[in-house]
Amino acid sequence: MDRFTLKGGALHCEDVALQAIAREVGTPVYVYSAKMFREAAQAFRGGLVDAGVHDAHLAYAIKANPNIAVLKVLAAEGFGADVVSAGEMNRALAAGMPAADIVFSGVGKTRGELIAALDAGIGQFNLELEEEGEVLADLAAARGITAPAVLRVNPDVDAGTHAKISTGRKENKFGIPISEAVAMYARLAGRPGLDLKGVAIHIGSQLSDLAPLEAAYVRVGELVAELRAAGHTIARVDLGGGLGVPYKVGEVMPSAAAFGQMVARVTKEWGVTLMFEPGRRIAGSAGVLVTEVVWVKPGAVNPYIIVDAAMNDLARPALYDAWHDFQAVVPTGNRMIANIAGPVCETGDTFAMGREIDEVASGDLAVFRTAGAYGATMASTYNSRSLVPEVLVEDGRYAVVADRITPETILAAERVPDWL
Ligand code: LLP
Repeated sequence: MDRFTLKGGALHCEDVALQAIAREVGTPVYVYSAKMFREAAQAFRGGLVDAGVHDAHLAYAIKANPNIAVLKVLAAEGFGADVVSAGEMNRALAAGMPAADIVFSGVGKTRGELIAALDAGIGQFNLELEEEGEVLADLAAARGITAPAVLRVNPDVDAGTHAKISTGRKENKFGIPISEAVAMYARLAGRPGLDLKGVAIHIGSQLSDLAPLEAAYVRVGELVAELRAAGHTIARVDLGGGLGVPYKVGEVMPSAAAFGQMVARVTKEWGVTLMFEPGRRIAGSAGVLVTEVVWVKPGAVNPYIIVDAAMNDLARPALYDAWHDFQAVVPTGNRMIANIAGPVCETGDTFAMGREIDEVASGDLAVFRTAGAYGATMASTYNSRSLVPEVLVEDGRYAVVADRITPETILAAERVPDWL
């Protein structure tokens, strides 16, 4: 259920007016609905359970939105974490997620990170290459422990998403070619220090169609059968993340129910613990970026709405030509055709061109929708701008869950060497 709605003519998050947050915290600011995180988490689990998949392990892909308050909300929903750095692992642990519920993914885990994760006792390492498995086995054996691990395979399936967020084609950097998996599994499975439990895949993000996921899962099913035929005990299959969210009004994505039914159908005979790593599907719709219109600048074709949020705050449009709906906080009812851009000194700092939007004027507040995933977490301080703050709302209350980090704070961490 959408919890960013108009009440008395003004956009609210749950029962809190965005104007009130903007007044107290300033803009730009990310605002999240705690209820929408909870509901997305429950819907994802519900889709699986309703289809008969009862004991899946759900590891929220922290990279989508790693704010500790968000992690607390999801920990309370029984979610563990999919992490890709020691920093993310430490966040998951700090939020109270049990180490056993943490999965460590990523193609470039350093030896230091492998050690930190072994010491923390995390539940699963997703191996990306043979050498990583050898090193992990040796590190674990030297500590007298065994590292639980799975092999991430690359099924060479086109996820049908933006090239920069596709991960399951053979030319991508991720996973072990599925054709080499059986031989590599045999070499690694015998190593002391390693408890190889199964396989993992993740073919890409913002998938709007279940067909590529199903094709990849079918290949994994065939691989599980081959591995078993070779004498291995396969106890876990990690099916990754990737389910898309609607970014445009009216856009329809596969439902949790349809996803659950597809999973149940494809994995019926597998006899394994299934794992999932959803990120965007849990966090995407639960957040908006609130911004103020600084100027309305005449343009050659359409006016430029210059807002105080920029590509450093929300990088997705600049990076992936992504669309985020733009909505006035207090709509007049009139519409206009405009370009929307931020203050950063790059043409790429453009959120939309020639788009029909709510009419806005200087000083008005507006939001970019569906900014709960891959929003604040990808922010930078480019152009010596502040790191954007975050606010969590639940019912009628709200709290600042990440401060605005100002250029002064960042300047204070820089040093001029004494020879200058
Ligand atoms: N598991 C693995 C191994 C991943 O690499 C990812 C995302 C996920 C799970 C979560 O995928 P999701 O359910 O969120 O689609 N910054 C980009 C998205 C990058 C996704 C990277 N990997 C964007 O803003 O669209």
